[in-house]
Amino acid sequence: MGRIEAVEEACLKIVLKIGGSLLAEDVEETELASDIEKIASSHSLVIVHGGGRDVTRVCERMGKKPIFVTSPEGFRSRYTDLETLEIYIMVMAGKVNKELVAYLKRRGLNAIGLSGVDGGILKAERKKKLVIIDERGRKRVIEGGYTGRIVSVNAKLLDDLLELGYLPVVAPIALGTEGEMLNVDGDRAAAYIAGAMKADILILTTDVDALYVKGKPVPRLNLDEAKKVLKDIGPGMITKIYASTEALAMGVKKVHICSGRGESPLVKALEGIAGTVIER
Ligand SMILES: Nc1ncnc2c1ncn2[C@@H]1O[C@H](COP(=O)(O)OP(=O)(O)OP(=O)(O)O)[C@@H](O)[C@H]1O
Ligand SMILES: [Mg+2]
Repeated sequence: MGRIEAVEEACLKIVLKIGGSLLAEDVEETELASDIEKIASSHSLVIVHGGGRDVTRVCERMGKKPIFVTSPEGFRSRYTDLETLEIYIMVMAGKVNKELVAYLKRRGLNAIGLSGVDGGILKAERKKKLVIIDERGRKRVIEGGYTGRIVSVNAKLLDDLLELGYLPVVAPIALGTEGEMLNVDGDRAAAYIAGAMKADILILTTDVDALYVKGKPVPRLNLDEAKKVLKDIGPGMITKIYASTEALAMGVKKVHICSGRGESPLVKALEGIAGTVIER
């Protein structure tokens, strides 16, 4: 099996987030599995997934109008009332997680699907209020719904599963401080898991090949540059850059943002020939 030159030396800890934008298309058509196999054969790997587009699709099919809100800083998120939360849990911990696990199992990988609720992998504090920008561009404060801010990660459980030879696949749902379930963002869940596990590398895959600023792909950024560039980035990607700054602040050494499509997408990103690298 081919080695990945850039990360050949030691056994590293790597957290990989597979964007929902990839899963909603057909993950079978990507080369992700063979790259995942290469990485998992010599490194410790944990997968976190998104699934926003699948959640939206099922909401629409069930006659539940998906609502998105935007914060004054430009972060877009799903407004999660109780009915939306139910659909979110069914799709994320059900359809998306199990399809991804089955796909990896078909390729011979020892995947085990979990949500952040299981074993208390992700604990979060419910956001009581949200500050949003309304249709007229005015700031408004609304009820927080069922979304959470991650406060802790059960890294020990993930480490134990790795030790037992499993490839954990985590859905971004958290357990609230009152035992309720909460929608948490997948990019940030991956960043917190990487931080808590003292991971060396975080990879955020999506449907675009890199971060673009002023129409040009950005191959490399340091932490300060990443913080400064936030104001120039649109929804979707801004969350990834913000999550990257959080991961680096928690001690992760390197974050790669890359496409999950094309030839050897993860290997190319790790070798620095594709995507955007953010380092301290
Ligand atoms: N400056 C930018 N550079 C690159 N992509 C950007 C930028 N601003 C906005 N985007 C958008 O960010 C999107 C990726 O984020 P998005 O949340 O849609 O996908 P994902 O994170 O893979 O899915 P999920 O949130 O379900 O896991 C891209 O499709 C792109 O349109
Ligand atoms: Mg996203």
